[in-house]
Amino acid sequence: MTLRHLFQTLLIHTPLIIAIDKTANPDLSARLKLTTTTYDRLHVLDNDEAWTYDFTGAQPIDAFKPGSVKNANAATFPALTGLDMTLAQLNLGPCAMLPPHLHPRATNLVMGITGNTTSYMWNENGVRRVTVNLTPGVMTVFPKGTFFSCRLALSNACMGCDNAFLVSALNSDDTGTLNVLNGLWEMPPDMIRAAFGDADLNIDEMRPHIPGVSYGAAVGSAECLAKCNMNPDGTKKEKK
Ligand SMILES: *[C@@H]1O[C@H](CO)[C@@H](O)[C@H](O)[C@H]1NC(C)=O
Repeated sequence: MTLRHLFQTLLIHTPLIIAIDKTANPDLSARLKLTTTTYDRLHVLDNDEAWTYDFTGAQPIDAFKPGSVKNANAATFPALTGLDMTLAQLNLGPCAMLPPHLHPRATNLVMGITGNTTSYMWNENGVRRVTVNLTPGVMTVFPKGTFFSCRLALSNACMGCDNAFLVSALNSDDTGTLNVLNGLWEMPPDMIRAAFGDADLNIDEMRPHIPGVSYGAAVGSAECLAKCNMNPDGTKKEKK
């Protein structure tokens, strides 16, 4: 199998939506940053709405098509400013995956609530890959800067291909997210070819097949989509 085919098996083209968490209320965030004491801070957060975050109302509303990560962090929930925490909902539709990524500023705990999601983590050069099946009530940890990815357990593709729902807690209110392939393709093409050890690698041909960062999830592998009777764009095939 050539590298190009490997990538095409792993990654299916989806429309480019850049959904980085935008600061919801810059004025409130600025006022919170200027407070000297907690007392001052509590007077800035002077209404119950400022203390409430509703994941169900957060974009995308259609959270499982194909999937999404919804973050409550300093940008989306200003009350978290300076509190060193993020809580995220991980919503994975059938086959959807979180593409290989890392958080440069936070360690990440992830716990399965529904479904069976397999997570793959690689901590650093020279160590082994860690694989954990996140069934309901099972948790793993991705230490800060770790490179990881998760998707529906392939065995489950034979048993329903349902949505998976997970909860993720991170020890920063500003974790950052770096998708590994999107980042790699920002490097000069000759360096990418050299890094792959293939001077003939067609970088331009591969680039459009790398999904945009979207809402954090991507359509899953061709193998899973076939098992779950889904189209390459992650939608269900019409019943004949
Ligand atoms: C979850 O998926 C893994 C990997 O396919 C499988 O080995 C395991 O038995 C599954 N667990 C459950 C509870 O279905």
